[in-house]
Formats: sequence, C-alpha cells, structure tokens
Amino acid sequence: MDKSLKILLLSSLLLSLFSPSIAQTCGTYQFSSNKLFATCTDLPYLPSFLHWTYHPSNGTVDLAYRHAGVDTSAWVAWALNLDKAGMEGSQTLVALHNTTGAAHAYTSDVSSYSTTLAQSNLSFNVPSLSAEYVNNVMIIYATLVLPSGRTSFNQVWQNGVVSGGSPQAHSFTGDNMRSTGTVDFATGQTSSTGGGGSLQRRRNVHGVLNAVSWGTLMPIGAIIARYLKVFKSADPAWFYLHVTCQSSAYIVGVAGWATGLKLGSDSSGIEHTTHRNIGITLFCLGTLQVFALLLRPKKDHKFRLYWNIYHWTVGYVAIILSIVNVFEGLDILSPSKNWKRAYIGVIIFLGSNAVMLEAYTWYIVLKRKKTGSDKYPNGANGQTHSTWPQQTV
Ligand SMILES: *[C@@H]1O[C@H](CO)[C@@H](O)[C@H](O)[C@H]1NC(C)=O
Ligand SMILES: *[C@@H]1O[C@H](CO)[C@@H](O)[C@H](O)[C@H]1NC(C)=O
Ligand SMILES: *[C@@H]1O[C@H](CO)[C@@H](O)[C@H](O)[C@H]1NC(C)=O
Repeated sequence: MDKSLKILLLSSLLLSLFSPSIAQTCGTYQFSSNKLFATCTDLPYLPSFLHWTYHPSNGTVDLAYRHAGVDTSAWVAWALNLDKAGMEGSQTLVALHNTTGAAHAYTSDVSSYSTTLAQSNLSFNVPSLSAEYVNNVMIIYATLVLPSGRTSFNQVWQNGVVSGGSPQAHSFTGDNMRSTGTVDFATGQTSSTGGGGSLQRRRNVHGVLNAVSWGTLMPIGAIIARYLKVFKSADPAWFYLHVTCQSSAYIVGVAGWATGLKLGSDSSGIEHTTHRNIGITLFCLGTLQVFALLLRPKKDHKFRLYWNIYHWTVGYVAIILSIVNVFEGLDILSPSKNWKRAYIGVIIFLGSNAVMLEAYTWYIVLKRKKTGSDKYPNGANGQTHSTWPQQTV
C-alpha cells in the first residue's frame, strides 16, 4: 500500500476516534435539526453548553442548552436569575424523560431551595420550548422574551436524577455547587462566578473557620497540655497556653458552627446528616469542656482525679470527632485536592510531633524515676494530678 494512503487511513481512524469529543465543544456542534445559532459558550462546570441568537429588534433570544453525559433517568435544567446569583428565584427551563418516555421540556419558577421543580410559569414569556435527547445529550430549545430590555443576567445550570416521576435534589458537592455565572446575550460575554455566589463563599468561610478551630487549634491545645507539662520550666505557662488555645478554638469554632447551622437552614432539602450530627455533638462536647473548667475541683480535692479523667475523655473524643468532621466537610465541599492535602499535612505534622513528644515524655519520666525525683509529668505515671500548677484554682 502506498505510504501516503496509510497515513491518510491512520489519521482518519484517529480523527474518528476523537471526533465524539470534538463534537462536544460548542463551536463545532451540529444540531440534528440543522438549527444554527450565532453565538455559543462552553459553560465552565458540568459538561454543558449554551448556544443562542439574540434579536435586538424584538428583544428575544433563541437558545439551545445542551447537557452531555446524562442518561434517560436524568433531569437537566438551565435558568436565568433576574435578581440573585444562586438557585433561589431562578427562572428555569427543565428537561427530563416524562412518564411516556419522551424527552419533555417545561418551565419552573424556583422560589426556594426545597423546590421539586414543579411546572409553573416564569416571570417572562417563553413562546417556544422543546427538548431533544440524542446520544446521552439532553438539549433544551427555547425562545425567551427577555424582560424589560435587559440582556445581561445571572445564569445557573444543573442536573440530577428523576425518581418516581419527579426530579430529585441535585448533588450538593463539587461542580454541581459551582455551576453559576453570568451571560450577556447582546455582547456574547459570559463569566463564571467561580461556583461562587454567596452560598459557596459562606461554605468556604464555614470550612476554613472550622478546620482552623476544631481541626487544628484544639489538637494543638491538647498537645500543649499533655507534653509541655514535662518541662518543669513550662509550669504553669502550659496551663495558660492550653486555656488560651482551647478558648480561642472554642470561640472561633462556635462561629464556624453557627455558620454551619445557618447554611443548613438556608438550604433545606440538602441533607448532610452525618456532618451535621457530628457538628452538633462537637458543639455540646466543646461547651461541656468550657463549663467543666468552671467546676474544676482544687488540685488536691478527692474528685480531681475523676474530673481529670472526664476532661481528657471528652477532650480526646472531641479532637477525634473534629478531625473526622473536617474530612466529612472537605468531602462535601470537594474543593481542589490541595485543600485536603494541606489538612492531611497539618494532621501528619501534629501527629508526628505528638509521637515524638510522647516518646520524649516517657524518656524523661523513666529518667526521673531512676534518679528518684518525685515529680512525674502529668498522666505519664498514672498520678494524674501531681503537676497541676499551684497558681490555678
Ligand atoms: C424576533 O425577531 C426575529 C427577527 O428579527 C424573528 O425571526 C423572530 O421570529 C422574532 N421573535 C418573536 C418571538 O417575535
Ligand atoms: C411527555 O412529553 C411529551 C413531549 O414533550 C408531551 O407531548 C407529553 O404531553 C408529555 N406527557 C406527560 C404525561 O407529561
Ligand atoms: C401560565 O400561563 C398561561 C399562558 O399565559 C396561562 O394560561 C396559565 O393560566 C398560567 N398558569 C399559571 C399557573 O399561572
């Protein structure tokens, strides 16, 4: 066979292998009905695309929204939000396979987060609307009469699963929480609010506050209490450091906890049950610790040993739950992998320090035992109250 023919065959084979993915980007897409649109954009999250033609003469826009990679049990939606950036208030076009098995499009005015995407009229006219399903791509065709001469809007887009004939809540992690942005039908400009919107920002703030307080400061406070005591010169400084560390962790942690509760109530229908329950448990344990400090018996009181056992048990349980819940939260937020790596790094750093300090503490304890010193670091010899600072009540 001629060499150039081989090359031609090979390259057409390669091209046919890659053409499905080429066909997925917006500029080269051929609609089955040979519909043509003047402008298109690859939306920045979820495999979705918006094509449109804007008619300045009558302020209408003909559009096609394509959402790839969905099966027949999915719903997809695209919406303009006239007043806000998020989902609440969004004027939504929904497409799904209805009970007759046909791809069906309808409108839904989403007034709250607990929507079931029931059919309702939008605040502007939609003279034509239809859906088409080809090769795992759902397409919504629509003509919108843009309200009050505006051409620039917030847009949101989503997908989820239909179950028992009704659309279920979409995923609340990853790109499904980032799929918002703006579109200007006249200029063709689009922007991503970076999965932003105020909700995402608040989720990030919640994450940072709690990862720093419950997830980092509290373990540091415990390490201070357990290992600084062994240095006689650090007595009673360790105690004040411990109290300062834990009370700042508690104050920041309660702020973070409150932002979590608010997030939970603002997004009813979103269930992060485990994360929420651990969070509430942590708040109770943390508060118990603060009150326990006020009820602490004097160091030579006969109940002091029991108090110490209680204080450590609650403390260690709280720290373990805190770390577990930071990871739960990271899974929900699914930020870039670097955040998870950074937090794993912090935990490994604290953990390895604790291991080294534990070994060092035992070394000192055994050495003191040999030289007959009567002062043992707290906890290492079972005489748990021996080095509690004199100054403290
Ligand atoms: C708007 O105007 C365009 C042409 O300018 C026309 O093709 C289209 O049908 C009009 N749409 C409506 C809804 O009147
Ligand atoms: C299902 O969708 C098709 C296509 O949009 C529509 O003609 C039909 O009325 C719908 N049936 C139901 C029960 O919603
Ligand atoms: C929706 O709009 C149509 C046409 O304008 C109207 O006939 C219908 O009553 C409206 N439905 C509701 C629930 O307002």
